[in-house]
Amino acid sequence: MSEPRKILVTSALPYANGSIHLGHMLEYIQTDMWVRFQKHRGNQCIYVCADDAHGSAIMLRAEKEGITPEQLIANVQAEHSADFAEFLVGFDNFHSTHAEENRELSSQIYLKLRDAGHIATRSITQYFDPEKKMFLADRFIKGTCPKCGTEDQYGDNCEKCGATYAPTDLKDPKSAISGATPVLKDSQHFFFKLPDFQEMLQAWTRSGTLQDAVANKLAEWLDAGLQQWDISRDAPYFGFEIPDEPGKYFYVWLDAPIGYMASFKNLCNRTPELDFDAFWGKDSTAELYHFIGKDIVNFHALFWPAMLEGAGFRKPTGINVHGYLTVNGQKMSKSRGTFIKARTYLDHLSPEYLRYYYAAKLGRGVDDLDLNLEDFVQKVNSDLVGKVVNIASRCAGFIHKGNAGVLVAGNAAPELTDAFLAAAPSIAEAYEARDFARAMREIMALADRANAWIADKAPWSLNKQEGKQDEVQAICALGVNLFRQLVIFLKPVLPLLAADAEAFLNVAPLTWNDHQTLLSNHQLNEFKPLMTRIDAAKVQAMTDASKEDLAASQTDTGAATGNGELVKDPLSPEIEFDAFAAVDLRVALIVKAEAVEGADKLLRLTLDIGDEQRNVFSGIKSAYPDPAKLEGRLTMMIANLKPRKMRFGISEGMVMAAGPGGEEIYLLSPDSGAKPGQRIK
Ligand code: MSP
Ligand code: ZN
Repeated sequence: MSEPRKILVTSALPYANGSIHLGHMLEYIQTDMWVRFQKHRGNQCIYVCADDAHGSAIMLRAEKEGITPEQLIANVQAEHSADFAEFLVGFDNFHSTHAEENRELSSQIYLKLRDAGHIATRSITQYFDPEKKMFLADRFIKGTCPKCGTEDQYGDNCEKCGATYAPTDLKDPKSAISGATPVLKDSQHFFFKLPDFQEMLQAWTRSGTLQDAVANKLAEWLDAGLQQWDISRDAPYFGFEIPDEPGKYFYVWLDAPIGYMASFKNLCNRTPELDFDAFWGKDSTAELYHFIGKDIVNFHALFWPAMLEGAGFRKPTGINVHGYLTVNGQKMSKSRGTFIKARTYLDHLSPEYLRYYYAAKLGRGVDDLDLNLEDFVQKVNSDLVGKVVNIASRCAGFIHKGNAGVLVAGNAAPELTDAFLAAAPSIAEAYEARDFARAMREIMALADRANAWIADKAPWSLNKQEGKQDEVQAICALGVNLFRQLVIFLKPVLPLLAADAEAFLNVAPLTWNDHQTLLSNHQLNEFKPLMTRIDAAKVQAMTDASKEDLAASQTDTGAATGNGELVKDPLSPEIEFDAFAAVDLRVALIVKAEAVEGADKLLRLTLDIGDEQRNVFSGIKSAYPDPAKLEGRLTMMIANLKPRKMRFGISEGMVMAAGPGGEEIYLLSPDSGAKPGQRIK
C-alpha cells in the first residue's frame, strides 16, 4: 500500500451578507464529494472554509439593520453553518475571516511583502461622500452614462449600452448611500506589485495547476502585462487595519484567501497532531487545492500565488474551477422562482437528491451546469430509487422471511462480482479527476447489470416453487452484496444513504477497499426504505416558495398600476423624465395566451422579451374572448414592474393597452419589423 496522501482542500469563502443558494451549493457539494472520496480512500484530507466577513457591503448592511457588523456576521455564520451541515457538507472547520488568526496571518504576509519591496504607495483621487464621510467604491456611485446618457447607472459600467468608464466620467454623480453629490478627494493607497511575479506566474499557470481553459484565459491577462493591485481602503471600513498605517485597512480580497490559512490555523490550534507548517511551509509535501467558481479566477490564480510566493509560503497544487449554475436553462431568476435558497430547498426536499444530480452532471470542465427541474426528478427517481435502492428492497424480504435475515455464503455469479471489481479503478480515477459525471455513469451501468441479472433469475418466481429455497437465498445474498458494492462506490456522494445502508447491512462504516470483499454468513438488520421517490409536487412547492420569498421581501407600495388590471384613470400627474426613464418598456411577443380558470377578467400571457420569457396576467379577457388569436402577435410590455403575487400565480410585468374597457380594450403593437426585447428609447 502506498503512503496516505496529505491533502488540504478549500471552497471559496461565502460572503457573510447573504444567504446560501443552490448556485453556491454546486461548489460546496462538488468540493465535499471530492473530499469524502479522498477520506474514503484512506488519505488524510482536511477541508476548511470560512465566512468572508469584511468589506463595505457588510458594514453598510449592518448599519441598515441597526446592528453591529460583528452581530451581522455572527447571525449569518449560524445560518450558513446550518445550511451546509444539512446539505452534508462536512467541513473540518468553518471559520470566519474576521478572526484573530486571520488578523495575524494577514499582517505577517503583508509585512513580509512590504519588507521584500513588493508594496508600493501612491496617492489616488477618488469620489468621497461628504455626508457619510467615506470614499465610494464604484458600485456605490450612480449617475448618467457619459456615452448614451442613461441615468442611474453604476460607477464603472452602463447596463444599457455596456460602456465601461471611470466613476469620474459619470455625469451628475450621486452617492448611492446618501444621495449626496460626491466630491473628489486624494488619499494614499497601498499597492501589491503584482508585476514582480510575472515570470513566476507565467510558469506556474502552465505547470498543470489549472484546467486548460483557465490557463488560456489567464494567458491573455499575463500577455497584456500585469498591473499593481490596490490592497488598501480608507476608514471607515469593516476589516483589519494595516500595520503601521492607522486609518488604512486591508481591502477585503487581501485577507479573504488568507482566511483559508487562518481557518486551518484555527483547526491546528485545537488539533495537536496537525502541523500548520507541514501544510503551508515552503517545503510542504502536502497537496493544496482550492475549489472556486469561474468568476474569481484572477484572485486565486494570480494575486494569491504571488502573495504566497512573496511571503515565503508554498503555492497551491491546483485551482479547481467550476462553471455557473443555471436552472431550467436560464440564469436563476427570482420572478420565476428559480433563485432557490439552500434553506428553501431543504424545507421541501432531501439534500441527497441534489447531491446526486450535481454529481451526475459535473465534469471536470468549467462549463455551466443546468439544474433542469423535470430532469432532476426523473433522473433521481430512475437512478437512485429505481436502480440502486431497488436492488436491496427486492432482495431483503426473501432473506428475512426465508433465512432469518442471514446472507448465505457463496457467490451465485462470479462474472458479475468480477465486473464490479474490474470497474472500481476506473470509477476511482473518475472521482480523482473530479469527473463525477463519468463516475456516476459507470456506477449506474453496474446497477443496470445487477438489476438485469436479478430480473433474469426472478427469485420472486423461484420462491413459489418447491425446493428452490437455496437458490433464492443464493441470488438474494448476491443481490445484497452487489447493492453493498454500489453503496461503497456512491458513498462520497450519498453519505446518508450509506449510513442507512450500513445500519441495514449491519457493518462498520464502509471504506473504499471494502469493495474487494463480499459478506457471507452474515446477519442483516431489518430493512427500512432507504430512499423515496421525489414527488414533483414538492419541487413545485419549492419554486412557489422561492417566489413567495420574493413577494415577502418586497414591501407592497400599493401602486395603482397593479399587474393584471388596466390603469383606470387616464389623467395622470406630471412626472419627471427620471421616472419615465426608469420604466423598462419593451417589445414582447405573445407566445401563449389563455384564459385563467376561476378569473373572469384575466388572461394569462406568456411573453417572449428576447432574453427571457415572462408570465403576465392581464385584465383584457373581455376584449379578447378567443385568447389563442393573440398568440404570435407583438405588443408592448413594462418589463421592470415589481413581480406581483396574485391568486393564480406571479405576474412578472404588464402589457400595455388602451380604451375604456369591456370590449373596447386595444392592445398596443409596435410597427412591423420590431423584435421581441427591443426597448423604447
Ligand atoms: N467571498 C468571495 C470568495 C472569497 S474566496 C477567498 C465570493 N463569495 S460568493 O459568496 O460570492 O461566492 C462563493 C462561491 O460560490 C464562489 O466560488 C462563486 O463562484 C460560487 N458561486 C456563486 N454563485 C454561483 C452560481 N450561481 N453557480 C455556481 N457557483 C456560484 O466570491
Ligand atoms: Zn450607456
